[in-house]
This record gives sequence, structure tokens and C-alpha cells, in this order.
Amino acid sequence: MNKVPHHIAIVMDGNGRWASKKFLPRVAGHRQGVDSLRRCVSACGQRGVRVLTVFAFSSENWNRPAEEVSGLMDLFVMALGRELPQLQADGVRLYFVGERRNLSVKVAASIELAESATRGNARMILNICFNYGGRWDIVQAAARVSAQGRPIDEASLSSAMALAHVDDPDLVIRTGAEQRISNFLLWQAAYSEFFFSDKLWPEFDEAELDCAIQEFARRERRFGRTPEQLDGPSPCAKLGSGQG
Ligand code: FPP
Repeated sequence: MNKVPHHIAIVMDGNGRWASKKFLPRVAGHRQGVDSLRRCVSACGQRGVRVLTVFAFSSENWNRPAEEVSGLMDLFVMALGRELPQLQADGVRLYFVGERRNLSVKVAASIELAESATRGNARMILNICFNYGGRWDIVQAAARVSAQGRPIDEASLSSAMALAHVDDPDLVIRTGAEQRISNFLLWQAAYSEFFFSDKLWPEFDEAELDCAIQEFARRERRFGRTPEQLDGPSPCAKLGSGQG
């Protein structure tokens, strides 16, 4: 099968549990998570995935212990600086998706630098959802559309969403053996396929990515239509028609 998703989105869950298993502080798990993300960006690029979106820090993550939050902020700034040359060499364009108003000057500056430095890259897009929540996104889009005096409908909201620069994700992966969406891409994942991995994020490797892509290739995406309405034969064509 050669059906590679154009856009993969990932909830990188399990860093804390990975660290606990090794009797390490939680931030050591996040550090390992950055290594896993680097490997994943490169593996996605090699497989022809054009857009990768990752959930790095949610609107709700501020409620974690102060030490973990500040550790994550420091790690974020450090990792961005360190990874930038490789991202440039690989032609990866970075976008930060989320509320920027309450970020520290240091974090905001490193985000702006990374975005402007990679602006000319066109091989792959990496969206980093940071201080992001799906509900926040819908609310900010509605506020923008109404401030422009436009009617609120699907097209106007879609164009004001934080990920309006890319198509909706084809495949959403969540690691860490949890099966929920956790306020990630509530609008954009309406017709995404989901793949839940038992691997903790620091353990997520090329083999597990390939499992997710192979599973995606086996799925029949109907977008609300019946199997009979779809073109060509499909391995799932005999299955009943749900909401699709
Ligand atoms: C969830 O695991 C992970 C996070 C909240 C942070 C993920 C962030 C990174 C991998 C770093 C990103 C860095 C850059 C530069 C993009 P968890 O802590 O909820 O794990 P648990 O469920 O085992 O507790």
C-alpha cells in the first residue's frame, strides 16, 4: 500500500510516565520527548508526509507543578535554538499555533525567531501547538470573524482557525495508551482517522510510525458518504454504513 497521509497530527503523550519508570524527574521525559520528535520529523519527511502538527503544550498544561512548567519552557527555548540548523537543512518550515499573549518574552522571542528563520523552507511544515487548545481556537476564530463583521459560518470560521494555512489532518496519532482527544484540533479532526499507540512518546520510533501509516492506508475514508458512493473497490466495502 502506498497511501501516505499528507498531514499527520500527534498528541505526544507519555513523557512523564517514561521518566517515572526510570526514576527520573518528569522533565527528563520531556527532554527525551524532544529527541523523539526530532526522529519523527525526519522519518515523516522521508516517508513523504508534508505536514506534521504536534501538541507540545496545552492551554491546560499551565496547571502542572511550577517546576515542570518552567522546565518545559526552558526546554522549549533550548530545543528550538539547538534544532534550528537541522530544520533549515531539511527544509522544514515552523509555525507556532496557540495563544501568544501570555508567553514570556524569552519564549515569544524564540518562537518569532524560529518562524522567521524558517519562512523560506518549503519541503515540509511543522506546526507546533503551544499554549493551544481546540476550544481556544474555535473561540478566537469566532471572535475574529465577528470583529470583521462577517457572518459566522463554516467557511468563515475555517479561514480564521489557527491552522488555516494547512489542510485538515488525515491521521491523528496519540501515544501513551490513552484514547481521548484532550482538546486537540477539535475543529480540524472532524474527519481524521485516529491511531492510538501504546508506546510512550519517548519510545515512539520509525517502526511505530510505519504501523500508524499502514493502518491509515487500510482505512476507508467516507466523509459521510456510503461505501457504494466511493470510487473503486475497497477492502472495507462490505462493512455497514455508519456516519462515515
Ligand atoms: C505529554 O506527556 C507531553 C507534554 C505535555 C509535553 C510534550 C513536549 C515535548 C515533547 C517537547 C516539545 C519541544 C519542542 C521544541 C517542540 P505527559 O507529561 O502528559 O506524560 P504522562 O501522561 O506520562 O504524564
